[in-house]
Amino acid sequence: MAGVDKGEFTFAVVTMSDKGSRGERVDTSGSHIKETLLEEGYTFEDYAMIPDSIPVIVDTLKKIADTQRVALLVTTGGTGVAPTDVTPEAMLQVIEKEVPGIAEYMRLESLKKTPHAALSRGKVGIRGTTLIVNLPGSLKAVRENLETILPILPHALEKIRGDEGDCGITPS
Ligand code: MTE
Repeated sequence: MAGVDKGEFTFAVVTMSDKGSRGERVDTSGSHIKETLLEEGYTFEDYAMIPDSIPVIVDTLKKIADTQRVALLVTTGGTGVAPTDVTPEAMLQVIEKEVPGIAEYMRLESLKKTPHAALSRGKVGIRGTTLIVNLPGSLKAVRENLETILPILPHALEKIRGDEGDCGITPS
């Protein structure tokens, strides 16, 4: 998007995975998010791999948003319907404003690829000036969902930090 220096926006990646946090899974999804956002020109700030535990997720997301004040915090995993999937429940204790349209947009586009997209309960919301986006856990789902939201991120992040930019520009 013209006029937006994405390098001014910092980002962090948090992977929710019991197996991963025990060292039993290589985090290809988290790595893909990091690489993609770096390629897009955003500035990397932090990465964490944590278990599917509501208090741990709440604490980690709050700390990153409140102390590191990243513009964008992307999570992967724990959005589904398995007993261990608690990312959306943790999000309710973290976000101050929900941005349902971004989550709905990701599900809408994902449903064109797989009906299983209906099983993701991922949320998107804002804490302070940090946009927090939940992506599902698989590398395929991360690729597809990230691709969907990349065009709207610059304007979203500008707005969240308080810019009074023109809303009339449609992303390509
Ligand atoms: N979205 C896209 N675009 N592509 C996918 O392959 N997989 C789905 C869904 N969303 C998928 C997707 C599946 S199979 C599940 S179970 C849910 O995301 C939840 O994933 P999670 O529990 O790993 O977060």
